[in-house]
Amino acid sequence: MPEQAPPASAATASTCGEGRVVLEARGVDKTYQMEGLEVRALRGVDLRICEGRMLAVMGPSGSGKSTLMHIIGLLDRPTAGSVRVEGEEVSHMAPNELAAVRNKRIGFVFQSFNLLPRTSALANVELPLVYAGVGGGERARRARESLERIGLGDRLGHFSSQLSGGQQQRVAIARALVTEPSIVLADEPTGNLDSRSGVEVMSILQDLNRQGITIIVVTHDPRVAQHAERIVHLSDGRIVRHEIVEDRTCADDEMAEILARAEEE
Ligand SMILES: Nc1ncnc2c1ncn2[C@@H]1O[C@H](COP(=O)(O)OP(=O)(O)O)[C@@H](O)[C@H]1O
Ligand SMILES: [Mg+2]
Repeated sequence: MPEQAPPASAATASTCGEGRVVLEARGVDKTYQMEGLEVRALRGVDLRICEGRMLAVMGPSGSGKSTLMHIIGLLDRPTAGSVRVEGEEVSHMAPNELAAVRNKRIGFVFQSFNLLPRTSALANVELPLVYAGVGGGERARRARESLERIGLGDRLGHFSSQLSGGQQQRVAIARALVTEPSIVLADEPTGNLDSRSGVEVMSILQDLNRQGITIIVVTHDPRVAQHAERIVHLSDGRIVRHEIVEDRTCADDEMAEILARAEEE
């Protein structure tokens, strides 16, 4: 299939002013082949994400949100179009080069936590460092620091099955952070959580964003999206709307409100 030229005017993409573009998709198409049937999951997506920003991706089920995350997270390749990470074109990289860029720059958080069961929180968080070839002592130290950073320093030895859903998602965030990525991609991170744990998780993501990490979060939930600075709406594989969040939810305020209400009850 010939590579499609990116549209001349990327009218829907934001510019970063003085800031750097950390991720850029141009004219991205993704077509899945399923038993002779073609599923067009993305159609001509243009998206720029500026360093240090927090972006939410919304859209109905099947609109291509996860596909977009996989492509900008270098877990999958587009059928056409280009993807750049920190200015570097990745479309033509070999799998091992892609993996190197991904492991160095990008952390992932998924809806279903994806932790190893009957394995301690510490060992789960160490895992990306095992793949990166980091030695045992340093591995444990960095994993501990990462868990302390998200407030789980007292749960290092707990198995994932001994933790609440919210705590498991926090372990997953610690695992995403342990390699010190500049970008965190979270695909419906609050989807399996009760509302209070969901707010906790969003509060952590917002905190990390304040510390300079670029965050992209997929969500169904308009309240979750209000934590971001900008919302991209997908429909049927296309970006149909960019929205600037005027009154961004401050997770800490909302958290205080929820905790106060829980105490009253
Ligand atoms: N691995 C795959 N093989 C075939 N079709 C897929 C695959 N992954 C996703 N799709 C299809 O692509 C479309 C977009 O899916 P997805 O990106 O998962 O949407 P969302 O995350 O918004 O629910 C859907 O029609 C889905 O069925
Ligand atoms: Mg999805």
